[in-house]
Amino acid sequence: MKLNRDEQDMLNGKEGLASQKAMELLVKYGDALGAEQFVDTNNVAVFAGLFFFPELVKKVIPSLDPDAIASKFLLDSDELVVLDRVKAFTTNHIFTINREYLKLQGRSQLVYDLAEKMEAYCKRVGINNIATCTPYLAGNIPLKGEHCAWTESSAIPFANAVVGARTNIEGWHSSFASAITGKTPLWGMHLGENRLGDTIVDVEVDLDRVMEWGLMGYYIGKRVGPHIPIFTNIEQIPNLGMLMAFNAGISGNIIMYHIIGVTPEAHTLEMATGNKKVSESIKYGKEQRREAYRELNHSKKGNVDIIIMGCPHYSIEQISSLARMLEGKKLYDSTALYVTTCRQTKTLADRNGYTDIIHKAGGLVLDDTCGLEFHHDMSKVIATDSAKQAHYLPVENVWYGSAEDCVQAAITGKWQGEIR
Ligand code: F3S
Repeated sequence: MKLNRDEQDMLNGKEGLASQKAMELLVKYGDALGAEQFVDTNNVAVFAGLFFFPELVKKVIPSLDPDAIASKFLLDSDELVVLDRVKAFTTNHIFTINREYLKLQGRSQLVYDLAEKMEAYCKRVGINNIATCTPYLAGNIPLKGEHCAWTESSAIPFANAVVGARTNIEGWHSSFASAITGKTPLWGMHLGENRLGDTIVDVEVDLDRVMEWGLMGYYIGKRVGPHIPIFTNIEQIPNLGMLMAFNAGISGNIIMYHIIGVTPEAHTLEMATGNKKVSESIKYGKEQRREAYRELNHSKKGNVDIIIMGCPHYSIEQISSLARMLEGKKLYDSTALYVTTCRQTKTLADRNGYTDIIHKAGGLVLDDTCGLEFHHDMSKVIATDSAKQAHYLPVENVWYGSAEDCVQAAITGKWQGEIR
């Protein structure tokens, strides 16, 4: 890679060991990707809180010293690197540990201790602990054209497609190194020519409900990824909840898409394709919609034991609407309802009385966690309004439907949702 003076100085250690180690890592990464240079970034989203194998971390760093952990596990350095402050504006996306409900999440005290230490470490080095997969609801809203270095699969299509910001899918190490240096390799989604659509999706169904967007995202993500789809014939202008559900459905497969007349790089079809011929056209009609619904609904049992809502983390609008649906009602005796959201939204929900209403009905609103992080009893039947959760939940019996279907199941203990 060609480095400018500033980057070379970092690599030579003139700005300290942390910048040097981070730059060494980014140069290797950029070289492997075929990037020729770096681009400045002042918007980084790291994943620096949860270690899935805490026993391994403890084996390598018995003292659980966060500087040593960050050096080894986030910078790949055997040398101890004591970071002073990160250079870029950085948010830490998720801890996935709710301190009050460790048992629900099947988490040990060790994971908790580690998460606490890493949270304090992030605070010390200037990383903002927003702890959510919806950073755009919690103060990290990039702007069109802004170069970012983000982790988190559903947030990335949101940044690229909905906002028009520019980010690849970054990992623990690369995002951390970008936070320290304020640099990311200039490749992939950072380059305009790589953001053009190459597959037309002709939409033939009404997308008037949030659930429809989750279904379409799921279907197209599985069939079209890793290409860049261009959605045509969509008459419904989606709201935030619809786009969040869509990004969750499509995530993991697609990091960029266009919706003609909706997303900022697709005012017209010509703009979305750059006037180039597209490689493929596919249809999303009634049949495809039914197929997606069938794939996501894989329960053989009509009862529902657990309902999980809030993937991606629910917005205040979604929580207030849920509270309205549950006001004065009671959950079925043996059915549990968990709603996950970010710290900021939880605080708003608490202060506006929504949490109280949901709790009085028998549900639970949780921040700092995600339904996939719960300790799941494989014999239980779970219902959700998220295509992403329905796909990834490890249990055999899963129902997917609208928020209304989930509330009905919470109150009756039975699944009655169906596709119209
Ligand atoms: Fe967020 Fe967990 Fe869903 S991280 S997108 S709530 S799977």
